[in-house]
Amino acid sequence: MTASRPDPAAELARLAAEIARHDALYHGQDAPEISDAEYDALKARYRALLGEHPELRPAEDPDAHVGAPPAEGFAKLRHAEPMLSLDNVFDAGAFEEWQARIRRFLGLAPDTQVAMVGEPKIDGLSINLTYRDGRFVHGATRGDGILGEDVTANLRTIADIPRKLGDDAPDLIEIRGEIFLTKTDFLALNAAQEAAGEKLFANPRNAAAGSLRQKDAAITASRPLKLFAYALGAASRRPAPTHAEWLDRLRAWGFSVNPLSRPLADAAAAAAFQAELADQRAGLAYDIDGVVYKVDALDLQARLGFVGRAPRWAIAWKFPAEQATTRINRITIQVGRTGALTPVAELEPVGVGGVLVSRATLHNEDEIARKDFRVGDTVIVQRAGDVIPQLVGVVAEKRPPGAEKFVFPDHCPVCGSHAVRAADEAVRRCTNGLSCPAQVQERLRHFASRAALDIEGLGEKTVVEFFQAGLLESLPDIFDLPTHEAEIAAREGWGAVSAANLSRAIRARRAAPLEKFIFALGIRRIGEANAKLLARHYGSLASWEQAMLAAREVGSDARLELGSIAGIGPAIAQELVDFFDEARNVAVLDALAARMHVQDAVRTEGGQLAGKILVFTGTLERMTRDEAGARAEAAGAKVAKSVSRKTDFVVVGAEAGSKAAKAAELGVRVLSEDDFLAMAGASGPA
Ligand code: IVH
Repeated sequence: MTASRPDPAAELARLAAEIARHDALYHGQDAPEISDAEYDALKARYRALLGEHPELRPAEDPDAHVGAPPAEGFAKLRHAEPMLSLDNVFDAGAFEEWQARIRRFLGLAPDTQVAMVGEPKIDGLSINLTYRDGRFVHGATRGDGILGEDVTANLRTIADIPRKLGDDAPDLIEIRGEIFLTKTDFLALNAAQEAAGEKLFANPRNAAAGSLRQKDAAITASRPLKLFAYALGAASRRPAPTHAEWLDRLRAWGFSVNPLSRPLADAAAAAAFQAELADQRAGLAYDIDGVVYKVDALDLQARLGFVGRAPRWAIAWKFPAEQATTRINRITIQVGRTGALTPVAELEPVGVGGVLVSRATLHNEDEIARKDFRVGDTVIVQRAGDVIPQLVGVVAEKRPPGAEKFVFPDHCPVCGSHAVRAADEAVRRCTNGLSCPAQVQERLRHFASRAALDIEGLGEKTVVEFFQAGLLESLPDIFDLPTHEAEIAAREGWGAVSAANLSRAIRARRAAPLEKFIFALGIRRIGEANAKLLARHYGSLASWEQAMLAAREVGSDARLELGSIAGIGPAIAQELVDFFDEARNVAVLDALAARMHVQDAVRTEGGQLAGKILVFTGTLERMTRDEAGARAEAAGAKVAKSVSRKTDFVVVGAEAGSKAAKAAELGVRVLSEDDFLAMAGASGPA
């Protein structure tokens, strides 16, 4: 009996759909699920099968287009000349094949050598820059090769892109190149993302693409994107006779051109260059995934033209995927500064492309479940873009008997508290932000920061210093620091004056308004605005705490009340409940309350001014306009500048003018300053 082979038409359609899905993930969302090598293998399988059955080409042929259609949200720009892709080769034989094809196409003798330029293949995203009369007019991503996304505003924030070319520039010219991030900048960006609780980028390429494709150019400006220029698109006149001279032109116009680019006389020189760059790869500041070889003479390039989606005159010789197999010895869980639990595979150390790899991130529990990684499994390790080792998958045949499915912990391995996962997130987090050693430094910093309690002199550096010295372990310790004043004064870089100043600043913040206190706790999703809502709704620390403890019970009155506060959605309510569900947090909160005076807020619920629109006019006697405005807002009112039919009350001070008259005319109720104060409640905000 023969094993049944899958129906080739169905198999081709399946592969085409699979490739289309990965194209969309990679180009459209900057979030690939598989490695480049896996993608290349998928395409190779598709092409091989199509080679056997050319009549079965699927309607949605992945080879018919490149990239992905431009994303919604960006205007589309048509490239004056399509932006194409490159064919790949993986070994010297296929490379020589490419050269032979060129010779045959041009009718050259088999022993003629066609001069080339070799350039590192930068692993970033390609961009098309249009210049008219020597000035940068717009720029677009590749998109589907015909229409790209207009990212001009973002490109203008990149220093490597000249605004003006030299006087010798053609009237119209498209310049193409690769936008990328260095490996170091990528790691720094991810560290910042992690600290801010934002999503991490998988590799420098995704980080560069995500940074460029921002709706807000200010975000792009904050990312150190770089450009290497390497190709010519449409041009009203040919700017140079050879590619090497074209690169010189680009340099003269102020572009950065990869300094490793090199003219190569023949295939032997190319093979030597390939080996040289493979050696240098790990030490380069940016990721490269191969070398691009281009025919040097531009008139030959023009004669060679394109076949399908790729030029005949260029080829990408990719580096072999740097892979190795090894065993997962253990799976450990790291806890980040924001409490995120990240699983890490501890591997039997193995060399991958010249680097010893002994650990690899498993990202999150969904990833572990999807690929079913288990302790004892033999896995394929790959160095993606040279920076971060990735686990490609499990070698199923080598699974030891009895290897058990990995159960993701629901407790923090650092402090033992509950670790929970929000419904809309892949990440599980430790709920004990206040005293979990992995998170507490971040919380201490936040607590003392300007937007929270604003403790002068207790900035990030000092927090780290005191934490390491054992002076600060948890938030309440802050208020005990004055008892260690002599010890602090004796520390290097301190002295009696600074230590005394710090003590004074800390004592001054023992009294804090409830909303600042709630915000300072650093509960996820409780920013300044939500803290204010909670403070105004519950009024005092004691009633807030009591209500939150009661709200842990699903369906309780307290839970319903929490959900009924305008602006507090279910996700926010859940974060609060998770926080109060952890007894360690409540203990810290109580310890803080014992050391501080948390001032009551004016409750807005049912208050006479809640939701009302107020206008002030004339000179108030007991307070300034600003203070009156703050009191009105604290009581839940809105302050408007002019009187209209929507106005509920006009507060009239001495020498009131036309606004008082207007109020009378419209029949709006007029309040005296005393009336207003009585309605706003006696205890105003601090
Ligand atoms: S030339 C028509 N040169 O590789 C040829 N491309 O796989 C246009 N790439 O879309 C491309 N470094 O994003 C060229 N030195 C280089 C390159 C390079 C990286 C990228 C580019 C292109 C992709 C094709």
